Amino acid sequence: MDEKQTKILSGKDPVIDREGIEEAGRILRDGGLVAIPTETVYGLAGNALQGDVAERIFAAKGRPSDNPLIVHISAWEQLLPLVSRIPEHAKELADAFWPGPLTMIFPKSGIVPTQTTGGLATVAIRMPSHPVARAIIDAAGVPLAAPSANRSGRPSTTTAEHCVEDLSGRIDAIVDGGPCEFGVESTVLSLVSVPPKILRPGAVTKEQLETILPAVEVDPAVVHPLAEGAVAASPGMKYKHYSPKAEVILVEGSAERFRSFFREHLSPGTYALVFTGEGKDLGGPYLEYGRKEDPLDQAEHLFAALREMDELGAKTVYVRCPSQDGVGLAVYNRLLRAAAFEVIDV
Ligand code: TXA
Ligand code: MG
Repeated sequence: MDEKQTKILSGKDPVIDREGIEEAGRILRDGGLVAIPTETVYGLAGNALQGDVAERIFAAKGRPSDNPLIVHISAWEQLLPLVSRIPEHAKELADAFWPGPLTMIFPKSGIVPTQTTGGLATVAIRMPSHPVARAIIDAAGVPLAAPSANRSGRPSTTTAEHCVEDLSGRIDAIVDGGPCEFGVESTVLSLVSVPPKILRPGAVTKEQLETILPAVEVDPAVVHPLAEGAVAASPGMKYKHYSPKAEVILVEGSAERFRSFFREHLSPGTYALVFTGEGKDLGGPYLEYGRKEDPLDQAEHLFAALREMDELGAKTVYVRCPSQDGVGLAVYNRLLRAAAFEVIDV
């Protein structure tokens, strides 16, 4: 791929940073690629209605082209031309959770190129709440396909600096909106399945969806490895994900047991990833990723901590296992994939 000059544009505020937003919009309208902030993680955006743009997004990320992209819109009316049918409850879900960290999967219309959907007959759509993301969609004047703005396989990016690390020289611009609010990607809900099914857990929880939907299923692949030869409902689930270079191992058990286990397994390059306040007594190198009882705090810091492990040169990372309740399921799901499902019970 040709080396590009990647511009850094300022995008912390939709009014003050109008110039950067307009420029991002122009680049996107002209078929370029721009990393943009959202409330979940940074997205690598391009015009969702141009198949060749989707191909360039896959190339910039190094992502397999059968892993479909999420299409971002800023108003409900923009959804109508993208879908061939509006499943039951879709509008109520949109009224309850949009704009926000929920992606819904619809049967696609003819105007969405198959490159954008990785060859699928369905399209994933999300309306972000981040004011700058919304302003950029409006400035571009087209729906934006945007996977997470990381190189494929690496932890998602939650700051502009992470985007520079992964994508500088490969895309036209990065809009710096500061750190992301949630830190893990949106909940992906298939409305093509009956009952609707969570394909990826996120900040909008099953319990919240159940306030609108009579029934919600969770795809088994959220917490279990995909069986050999099985077809993934969400193609993203079949790939190793969110991984730092180190081997990540999830450790289940109390803080005390974790400490003894970690001490027994200490060797050069071994790090612990623990909850806030637990590091100081460990007797070895560590990072902390959020308060034990606060999955939103863990979600916010998880990917930055995994990236920092690389900078520290960690070879093995033992991680305190989060709770699977509420938003905790999203944190657990990302860690399971970072660990390639390696879990030890101590
Ligand atoms: O929060 C987010 O969703 C972020 C920000 C940038 O909006 N985006 C994001 O995109 O996480 P990405 O491409 O990294 O993850 C999209 C996930 C993948 O696991 C993909 O397989 C799944 O959504 N997906 C997309 N379209 C789908 C479809 N039509 N059917 C099933 N799964 C789909
Ligand atoms: Mg991703």
